[in-house]
Amino acid sequence: MIGFDIGEIASDTYYDDEQEGLEEQIIIRFSHVTAENTPKGRTASKFAELLEDKTNGKVKVHIFPNAILYNDTNEWEAVQNGSVEMIAPATAKISRHYPIWQILDLPFAFPNYQAVEEAYEGKIGETLLDRLEHTNVKGLDLWYNGFKQITTQESAIRTADDFSRLHFRTMPGPVIQEQFNQLNASTSTLSFNKTYHNLEVNFVDGQENTLSNINTKKFYEHQQYLTISNHGYLGYGVLMNRDFWNGLPSKIQESIHEAIHEATEWGRRHAIEINDQHAREIRLNQSLEIYTLSAEERAQWRQALRPVYIKAEEAVGSDLMQEIKTIRENYAY
Ligand code: SIN
Repeated sequence: MIGFDIGEIASDTYYDDEQEGLEEQIIIRFSHVTAENTPKGRTASKFAELLEDKTNGKVKVHIFPNAILYNDTNEWEAVQNGSVEMIAPATAKISRHYPIWQILDLPFAFPNYQAVEEAYEGKIGETLLDRLEHTNVKGLDLWYNGFKQITTQESAIRTADDFSRLHFRTMPGPVIQEQFNQLNASTSTLSFNKTYHNLEVNFVDGQENTLSNINTKKFYEHQQYLTISNHGYLGYGVLMNRDFWNGLPSKIQESIHEAIHEATEWGRRHAIEINDQHAREIRLNQSLEIYTLSAEERAQWRQALRPVYIKAEEAVGSDLMQEIKTIRENYAY
């Protein structure tokens, strides 16, 4: 017989830890837009686990993935007004509000993962997080995802000229718009969780994203070509409602800082491997024709996108631009 044992339900309820000491528990609602099995989803779970451990269960983090609570067009307002306590938007989405953040989305800013880490964990990361000081969000850290690739439906993208007259779904952010402008492509800024539908109905020809996002959101079902271009890096600002933060006992604030930094470190070590796993699934699935840019093609894309830097420098400032140049020069890039 299939059914419930009423005694079992009653005792489960009795021992549910959320029923005990409820008034003493601190709940952090953490809303984000990606699937759970992505660098952001997994790093958020790691953070929740670490924080609950460090506070002996006093703080609980309730994670709402896949935009089930808020999507990328309203999560910023939600964290500002305290409808949720935490979000972790892509850096490009923060650059909509704080243009200095666009530095991290510059095309070909980073030759490799090590260079991304140097920017995230060095002066650039610190400056960007500090810039949020006078707002109702507190910048806690930067989290990793991976390099972006391009998918399209009708024709493969190899040279910078192949973008011409195509229509792309993009994240918001001035640098992203300028990148596609320079490639003579048109864009629609659409929320992440509306992308699949807009690919399905051919409203857009293509999009750019990490392999974990492409795979978990099944973009391959309506895209035929994948170009491995590694032309930009997608990472996140981890943000908390500042009033909520200010109201926390200092011991809890300390635990949050520790848990965030340990989770960041975990994400840094695992993001590449998580994206690699999704790359393997994409290859096995075989529904996408995959092309990897040659060094010459990369150099040609880079050249075509140089003007993006000139516009960005006005918003970012020469000091931070110099920082990124120095990081690149260390890799002779
Ligand atoms: C995310 O990784 O949070 C979403 C990225 C996108 O909007 O494309």
